Amino acid sequence: MGILAFLASERETVDAALERVLPPNDTWPRRLHEAMRYAVFGGGKRVRPILARVACRAAGGDPDLILEAACALELIHTYSLIHDDLPALDNDSLRRGRPTVHVAYDEPLAILAGDALLTEAFIVLGTHPEGEAMASRRAEACHLVALAVGSRGMVGGQVEDLEATGKAPDAQRLERIHRAKTGALLAASVELGAVLAGVDRSTRQRFAAFGQSLGLAFQIADDILDVTGTAASLGKSPGKDVAAGKLTYPAVYGLAAARQELTRITATLRAEARELEGPRGKLASLVDYIASRDR
Ligand code: IPE
Ligand code: IPE
Ligand code: MG
Ligand code: MG
Ligand code: MG
Repeated sequence: MGILAFLASERETVDAALERVLPPNDTWPRRLHEAMRYAVFGGGKRVRPILARVACRAAGGDPDLILEAACALELIHTYSLIHDDLPALDNDSLRRGRPTVHVAYDEPLAILAGDALLTEAFIVLGTHPEGEAMASRRAEACHLVALAVGSRGMVGGQVEDLEATGKAPDAQRLERIHRAKTGALLAASVELGAVLAGVDRSTRQRFAAFGQSLGLAFQIADDILDVTGTAASLGKSPGKDVAAGKLTYPAVYGLAAARQELTRITATLRAEARELEGPRGKLASLVDYIASRDR
């Protein structure tokens, strides 16, 4: 199966599981659950859960055993998008091809739907994979994901992203922001797959390091797409980074050098992926997809 067919089939599997783990629309309070589902089912690529499942297989585990846990990553990611789009942060009105949650509903509900999705993710991670035998892996999973998305990871990166907006180009700061705001959750996705597969400490470390570079590459591609993409393909408004004065790879290095850097990191990642998974896994193709995607 080619990578695009594989991704389409994975998306279907992940979407069906998200449908099961999220409280139904008519759960009290109804508007809140509607808003949560509106955000989650808006057509995301599902890169983080797919990455966790692919990493799990590469680490010798069963991706179907970690399906729900992988969905928790998408819940956290979706919360981060809702909050990222708020007027107080990036002030975006288009996401996944539809009005953002604060536009479709209202700002208080968007904030609270984000809070609820983040919390829901840890309910899922605390429950799946089920069974006494998996208890210590669940605890490890909760800890590693929480660490990645808290003040020392994703949220910290979002804070520095805001602080750096409109400031002088600073290459070190840029890499720090990207590794934190986007890289940390992607790295946690890879690491989660490995941890739930039951790998030893040093293998876990190799997956984590690979995930960190992949996360950086992902955000460099996102920065490039903000310059080169269209609203129709991206499902979000392009050109926002320049307009806001964001610290991005194209802003600091120029578009051509940003592309070169992405190509350089991708080549290393591809080789690392092959070492991690052997010749038949999907991790290496996923690397290429992340670097060359148009949305
Ligand atoms: C966009 O993430 C925000 C970043 C962290 C760069 P994705 O590009 O994964 O967005 P969706 O989930 O496919 O909408
Ligand atoms: C978003 O980065 C990072 C998080 C949501 C944590 P961006 O602000 O670049 O993402 P987009 O471009 O709005 O999707
Ligand atoms: Mg942002
Ligand atoms: Mg944004
Ligand atoms: Mg962006």
